[in-house]
Amino acid sequence: MIKDCKIVELPKIDDPRGSLTFIEADRHIPFSFQRVYYLYDVPGGAERGGHAHKALHQLIIAMSGSFDIHLDDGLEKKTVHLNRSYYGLYVPPMIWREIDNFSSGSVCMVLASDYYDEADYYRNYGEFRDDVKKALD
Ligand code: TYD
Repeated sequence: MIKDCKIVELPKIDDPRGSLTFIEADRHIPFSFQRVYYLYDVPGGAERGGHAHKALHQLIIAMSGSFDIHLDDGLEKKTVHLNRSYYGLYVPPMIWREIDNFSSGSVCMVLASDYYDEADYYRNYGEFRDDVKKALD
């Protein structure tokens, strides 16, 4: 559900030498991660995402720069702007997401609860919505 998509404030250790942030599985975020991937060198005007996951939990962080994440649980929508490396957006399963408005040089890092598995994806919005409706019946 869209209300379960939450901004997580991560620990931040300020220091004259630079800031440090860390993430401990099951402590700062409600899942253990098996995989990290990141989007970078994103050309101006590009859109990423355009899918939902059946079982995967994710935390999305703007490691550098900023971007918008459009979330949709099949019933409700909301948009989140990420622009700090000590905030993450927790995205549970069954949320359609699209990411756009990448600033130049931005890096989008994703912690994922499992290995890559194409069978876990909805890549068709209609199929995603149909399954959301079926689950509500
Ligand atoms: P895609 O899901 O389209 O990226 P995004 O949703 O971020 O826009 O993935 C692009 C390609 O990368 C696709 O062929 C699947 C592959 N891929 C992997 O092999 N492993 C991964 O962990 C991810 C996220 C994608």
